[in-house]
Amino acid sequence: MKRDFLSLLDCTPDELRALVARAIEMKRLHRERSLPPLLAGRSLAMIFQLNSTRTRVGFEAGIGQLGGHAIVLNSSDTQLGRGEPIEDTARVLSEMVDAVVIRMRPHADLERFAKAATVPVINAMTAHLHPCQLLADIQTFEELRGPIAGRTVAFVGDGYNLCNTYLEASRQWGFQLRIACPRGFEPSAALVAAAPDAVLVDSPRAAAENADLVVTDVWSSMGHEEEAARRKAAFLGYQVNEALLDHARPDVLFMHCLPAHRGEEISATLLDDPRAVAWQEAGNRLHTQKALLEFLLA
Ligand code: CP
Repeated sequence: MKRDFLSLLDCTPDELRALVARAIEMKRLHRERSLPPLLAGRSLAMIFQLNSTRTRVGFEAGIGQLGGHAIVLNSSDTQLGRGEPIEDTARVLSEMVDAVVIRMRPHADLERFAKAATVPVINAMTAHLHPCQLLADIQTFEELRGPIAGRTVAFVGDGYNLCNTYLEASRQWGFQLRIACPRGFEPSAALVAAAPDAVLVDSPRAAAENADLVVTDVWSSMGHEEEAARRKAAFLGYQVNEALLDHARPDVLFMHCLPAHRGEEISATLLDDPRAVAWQEAGNRLHTQKALLEFLLA
C-alpha cells in the first residue's frame, strides 16, 4: 500500500527517527561520493503552485543523485492551471511517475490529490503544514546537539504553517514547545490542543528563556503579501535578535527556514551570529528529502 507524507503524523515516531538517522548517513555518503543509485529509473513529478528554492532544489537534485529524475511543473504549465480536476491530474500522474511532490496553499486540495493518487504524495508545503522543513530542522539540531527529545524549543512569530508543524513535531519527537505569537496570529487551536508538551506564552522573552532552540519564520508568508503593512505593525516586538538569544541557553541554536527578511522577523545581523545554523539547516533539506524519497519509494 502506498504511503503519503502530508504531515509528520503520517509517520510513526520511530519512522521519523529512522528517517533523520538515514539523512545523516546519506549526507556522509554524499560527501564521500559513494551514495548508490537507489532510485535508478524512478520518476518524480513536482507541482509548484507557489515559489520555492530549497524544497524544489532539494528534491530535484536529490532524486538525480539517487539515479532518478524529476519533472517540475509550475501551475501555469499544467492543465491544473486551466481547471482540470485535482483528482483527474492525480490519477494521470499516478500512471506515469513513481511519486508526486506538491506545494499548494489549500491543504484540503493536497489531501484530495493524495486520496485520488495511487503513488506516494509528498507535501512540499501548504498553508497548514510544512513537514519536509521539520525533517531538516531536526536533523540539524541532532547533528549539533544530540537528541531533541526532552529539549525546549521556542517558536517566535507567526502561528502559521511552520508553527503548526512544530506542534506536530513536539508530539512526534517529544520536546517541549513554547510559542510566542501576537494576538490574532496564534497557530491552529486543534494542533495546540493535541500537543501536550506545547504552551502559548505571552512574550518572545518567555518563550526563549533557557531554550535549546529558537525558531522563527517570516511575518508575511506567501499569500499574505497584501497584509504586509498590518502584519509589520502587529509583529513589532516579535523580532528574534541577538539580545533575545542571550536569554536562551548558552549553547542555543537559532533556525530560520528561509527566505529571511532581515530587519523584520530577525535582526540584520542574526544569520551571521555563531548561534545561527540556517545554512546547515537549508543544506539538510537535500539529505532529509532524499531519505524521505528512499523511505517512500525504494
Ligand atoms: N524553506 C523553504 O521551504 O524554502 P523554499 O520556499 O525556498 O522551498
